[in-house]
Amino acid sequence: MESVRTQVVIIGAGPAGLLLGHLLHQRGIESVIVERRSLEYVEQRVRAGVIEYGIANFLDESGIGSRMRSEGLVHHGIEFRFEGVSHRIALSELYEGRAITVYGQQELVKDLINARQAFDAPLFFDTEVLSIAGHLTDHPSVIVSREDGDMTITADYVVGCDGSHGISVESVPQGYLRRFERVYPFAWLGILAEAPPATEELIYCRHARGFALYSMRSPTLSRLYLGVRPDETLDAWPDERIWEELTTRLATDRTADISQGQIVERGLTGMRSVVIAPMRYGRMLLAGDAAHIVPPTGAKGMNLALADVRLLAPALVARLLNGDENLLNSYSDDCLRRVWRAEEFSTYMTQMLHPHPTDDFENGVQTARLRQVIESGDAARALARNYVNLSSV
Ligand code: FAD
Ligand code: PHB
Repeated sequence: MESVRTQVVIIGAGPAGLLLGHLLHQRGIESVIVERRSLEYVEQRVRAGVIEYGIANFLDESGIGSRMRSEGLVHHGIEFRFEGVSHRIALSELYEGRAITVYGQQELVKDLINARQAFDAPLFFDTEVLSIAGHLTDHPSVIVSREDGDMTITADYVVGCDGSHGISVESVPQGYLRRFERVYPFAWLGILAEAPPATEELIYCRHARGFALYSMRSPTLSRLYLGVRPDETLDAWPDERIWEELTTRLATDRTADISQGQIVERGLTGMRSVVIAPMRYGRMLLAGDAAHIVPPTGAKGMNLALADVRLLAPALVARLLNGDENLLNSYSDDCLRRVWRAEEFSTYMTQMLHPHPTDDFENGVQTARLRQVIESGDAARALARNYVNLSSV
């Protein structure tokens, strides 16, 4: 079997794996990124869209933010809609002039892939990690399967950036990692439509029929979501039904219909929270969705993934260049403090905006929470701070 040696093997070319590879390259550390999907698949996978203030600045400082700055949409507020009335949350006024940037995850992924390919740094697509060995030795290794045969890659460290269904967590013997999990009784049906956004800011909407979210990707592309039952199938949602339901839920007595267009992508995502602790087993580190999932209502998943590697890169550099292991030793605890805060915020947003199908006590509490955000400056300030910049504080 072919055998390769490097300093860091990174499993997964999502935002976490690609940014880590980029940051390590800048500090002269060699890495190999392996991704089981094809280049086309990874570049076209439609997912997150909201980048926090501090994370956007970090991407810029890391030399990867120029297209995000020129094409991303800077938003100074969001809208909360409930009981047919719109309320603006003035994020920037509430939080020191700071704003979020709406920029598609797959655009950031393309920028990171281009940067890596420009340096000719190793990035293998269609290459699946089949097993990980030697976590507790000085030279852990992975076996990967490629079209032209299997290959062993041996390294000083392995980093699992392999998302929520990856192999890295599974490779750890029972009893070493703890898994905390909560499943919510909702899923999101998401669409991407060739329709100019009918609004300038994101709209989070709580309607008696369920949650809806109006987001966007560009002046010609809208991204919309409907909260649906967790056992829904896409077959039950032909285009007309999707538009009808979005129009009903998003309606106010002052707005016209939302603009419709060709649906170019659609998908269903179950909503859950997962935390794996610690985010390390010997010489294997975890980052991003491999270690934690948040329900998307808080727009935190990608930001957390990027925030993890912002800590992990200097920790690996300190260890590999200077033999200093202090940062690596505190990596998991440092990340998990932020991860639990994001879980708390994402749960809060989810439980405020998704009406419960049967529990009207819960629905009364949800309405009270929303009113508090609208009526109390303190509640709105806390929300703005968490929405705009949770991952950098
Ligand atoms: P991923 O992007 O999942 O990347 C992991 C990679 O590892 C994948 O490419 C996978 O193919 C690869 N892989 C897995 N196993 C192997 C293997 N054995 N060998 C090789 N490669 C492997 N987050 C936000 O911040 N804001 C939002 O607005 C937001 N909205 C979202 C909306 C939806 C509908 C969804 C589904 C998610 C959303 N998220 C959002 C979450 C965000 O998309 C994820 O948190 C983010 O993709 C995590 O990045 P990652 O690099 O950790 O993992
Ligand atoms: C998105 O634009 O895809 C998006 C925005 C806000 C969220 C989740 C997803 O909370």
